[in-house]
Amino acid sequence: MARVTEQYACQTCGSTYRKWQGKCDACGEWNSITEDTTNQVVPKGLSSGKGRQIVFTSLDTETADYARSVCGLSELDRVLGGGFVPGSSVLIGGDPGIGKSTILLQAVGRMAKSGYKCTYISGEEATRQISMRARRLGLADSPVKLAAANSLRDIISSLEKEEPPHLLVIDSIQTMYADNLDSAPGTVSQVRACSQELIRLAKKLNTAVMLVGHVTKDGQIAGPRVLEHMVDTVLYFEGDRGHQFRILRAVKNRFGATDEIGVFEMTDNGLQEVNNPSSLFITNKDKEISGASVFAGMEGTRPLLVEIQGLVAASQQATPRRAVVGWDSSRLSMILAVLDSRCGLSLAGNEVYLNVAGGLRVSEPAADLAVAAALISSVSDIPVPENSIIFGEIGLSGEIRPVSQTDSRLKEAAKLGFDNAIIPLGSKIKDPTIKIIEVEHLSEIVSLFTQAK
Ligand code: TYD
Ligand code: MG
Repeated sequence: MARVTEQYACQTCGSTYRKWQGKCDACGEWNSITEDTTNQVVPKGLSSGKGRQIVFTSLDTETADYARSVCGLSELDRVLGGGFVPGSSVLIGGDPGIGKSTILLQAVGRMAKSGYKCTYISGEEATRQISMRARRLGLADSPVKLAAANSLRDIISSLEKEEPPHLLVIDSIQTMYADNLDSAPGTVSQVRACSQELIRLAKKLNTAVMLVGHVTKDGQIAGPRVLEHMVDTVLYFEGDRGHQFRILRAVKNRFGATDEIGVFEMTDNGLQEVNNPSSLFITNKDKEISGASVFAGMEGTRPLLVEIQGLVAASQQATPRRAVVGWDSSRLSMILAVLDSRCGLSLAGNEVYLNVAGGLRVSEPAADLAVAAALISSVSDIPVPENSIIFGEIGLSGEIRPVSQTDSRLKEAAKLGFDNAIIPLGSKIKDPTIKIIEVEHLSEIVSLFTQAK
């Protein structure tokens, strides 16, 4: 049986003691320590205790409360699954300087202008710095409630006294601290405790809360992994420093799809939404160069055309270099192996470089065929057939498998002025809008290039 230990807590600062005392050592307050039963261990079996009666409801409970708040940045709204759900919590992670504070300031600025109540609490920047940025973004006149604060206690008690906002932004969770814990801000226990309290507050006030999280060197959100389980939605804001494009990606979403992306461009006036990203990721559609192919991909519900560049170069080294940017390197090894053993095209003695243009990351297996085409085109120094898009998954025996959403991919290609599509044999096409070249095996792509020679 667990022993019940008595505990005393200071009602001013939350410090806990084993014995009662007149003065709190932590905050210096007199007469503030009272017996605190909340931390008591439950004696005996749980079944013997008298719990409160839970109210059970049906699945078809009234959902009017869950009308989402739309922030007006359509790319962000789409990634969230159609706006912020009241009472939900969203965690956004990303490298320093990628634009997390900027996107959130723009979101609250726009929302507040369209009548929602928004509160932005920064633990990193002073209010003057934030208002300077707001001025630059043209949002200085937006009725956002702004504060610079770090103490969770101050934040919670201030918010509980006010009319609850529709959206609360905490920038960042690593700078917040709960004063009832001894550890420093940013430590695991602080991050966990602060997030827990803020999520609880969000549920209580029916407010959407957005937490900014720092990332570690390898790109994970810093702090406890459980943080990602605690929140409803986890977003990553990513992009290449050398490029203006920023991609917002949902990796977990209890209220929407996780494969959606939002595309933004960082400009002098903040982040601009990119509603037609396909045109951005294709650099030289009309020029014929070898080693480049256009992949018609899908990001969530949206088709996205991207240019894939391959370079096969002679190598002097015993183990030639392989470098991949924006794609999976083990998938590249697989394609090289299939080219070698199924199509008789060995690149073992060559250096192979692969790049997805524009700083985008492609994760679909449907890109296999476009990657293979770029590589074969580079080896043979013959451009991919003019004005063509290409997609398909490659199997280990070299067969090319159909992929999903063929029609959307073809439609997007037609919209952007492409004339041909190299696609897997057996793809289900309802309404072909461009010329289709169907392929069944990877060797057909290889011979397509050698024939052209
Ligand atoms: P910021 O939102 O502060 O990044 P994070 O909060 O993720 O650390 O973004 C800062 C970067 O964005 C900085 O390098 C400057 C750039 N920026 C612009 O290019 N244009 C703008 O209008 C703003 C506000 C920032
Ligand atoms: Mg910031």
